[in-house]
Amino acid sequence: MLKLDPSNISVERVGPNGVEWGSSLTSYAQRLEAALEAILSRKSDPGAFLGWIDLPEDTETLRQVRRYREAHPWVEDLVVLGIGGSALGAQAVGAALGKGPVRLHFVDNVEPEPVLELLRTLNPEKTLVNVISKSGTTAETMAAFLVFRRWLERTENWRQHVVVTTDPTRGILRPYAAAEGLAAFDIPPSVGGRFSVLSPVGTLPLAFAGVELENLLAGARKANEQARLEVARNLPAQTALIHHLFAQKGLNIVVLMPYSTRLRYLPDWFVQLHDESLGKLHDREGKEVRSGTTAVRAIGTTDQHAQVQLFREGPHDKLVVFVRLENPSEDLPIPAVEGLEGLDYLFGRTFFELLSAEAKATAHALAKAHQPNYTLLLERLDAYHLGWLLQHLMWQTAYLGELWGINAFDQPGVELGKEYTYALMGRKGYEKLAEELRAEGVG
Ligand code: PA5
Repeated sequence: MLKLDPSNISVERVGPNGVEWGSSLTSYAQRLEAALEAILSRKSDPGAFLGWIDLPEDTETLRQVRRYREAHPWVEDLVVLGIGGSALGAQAVGAALGKGPVRLHFVDNVEPEPVLELLRTLNPEKTLVNVISKSGTTAETMAAFLVFRRWLERTENWRQHVVVTTDPTRGILRPYAAAEGLAAFDIPPSVGGRFSVLSPVGTLPLAFAGVELENLLAGARKANEQARLEVARNLPAQTALIHHLFAQKGLNIVVLMPYSTRLRYLPDWFVQLHDESLGKLHDREGKEVRSGTTAVRAIGTTDQHAQVQLFREGPHDKLVVFVRLENPSEDLPIPAVEGLEGLDYLFGRTFFELLSAEAKATAHALAKAHQPNYTLLLERLDAYHLGWLLQHLMWQTAYLGELWGINAFDQPGVELGKEYTYALMGRKGYEKLAEELRAEGVG
């Protein structure tokens, strides 16, 4: 199960900073139903980028991914060359559930030192390079590919060490893969980068990491089911509404704080999903709205000793979202040690008991300070529940986009920076922009 505990958003718990949850649900029911209708009515239009909804049903692609993995038993290290939506999902799930034996590495930056360090430690004969780019043009990913492609020339047959994941027709990678006879997987045109974790963008590396992909997709199907229910049983519509209500109250920061080191990259994936989808200058009518709330990463218990001070006593400009596990996969008993009786409250208890107590205590302590927060409870951390959570958060984003009247599936705000980079790097066709930049003192 994935459950919502909304108690700490209520007026009873957090005073005037809170909301009347029951009556809000009733008063927004129609708008949320209309939001669902709007989403579903656009689903078959590839330009609406809603293909992520159907990914959990695509068992045929999963079979191809499985076959590819089985045909490559020699792989010891898999290097993902990708950035943003082409890396963060696999990184989050891999860290949470990866059990090897293949080690995953993510090259999502062009800082030379870490890439050189990685190249020095890898054995090319045992390395598979998965270059992932929907557009097939992203400068960071392409630069990394050029380097790894050259590095692989020291192997007997470099072509066996490369697998491409890209759009079926667009970009540089697809024709290159065809010309060189490289293995290639499709990112469906109707699926945007940050919504692509359940396509081969995520599933291919995760197959090598030993993740139970059937269960990951089954969990995501559960979120799909819930997202279509009436509002009283529709979890993503409910959490979207919570975000909407607090954004309206002026809380423009959203903290995602899983109580799990294994989930340490989940907030990174969420930050991209939430911020890139919902931070928009214009609404769908072209009106300037400057929508968005800023997602912030935190990890429990680690951040209890860092950011929680600010969350309790700093400005009340945040909604804190806890992710808590209800059961451990395994637990660690805390032994009694003679001479340390001052710690006897810990003797005979377990790590998981302490972790759960800390999560509950922090949520309550924040509520006592009138800091609104809610908790998402995962029955346990496995592929099924993580798939459910990921798809839940994608639905939440889609619902929020509808509530705010914006297109959650484009990212016009990142384009200019990319074009400036091309101009600064001397790319053909960008000469005029380069001149403009020089005139503005950039270069
Ligand atoms: O969500 C998105 O669309 C982006 O964050 C992309 O994933 C990111 O820019 C990488 O793009 P590409 O996969 O085209 O290299």
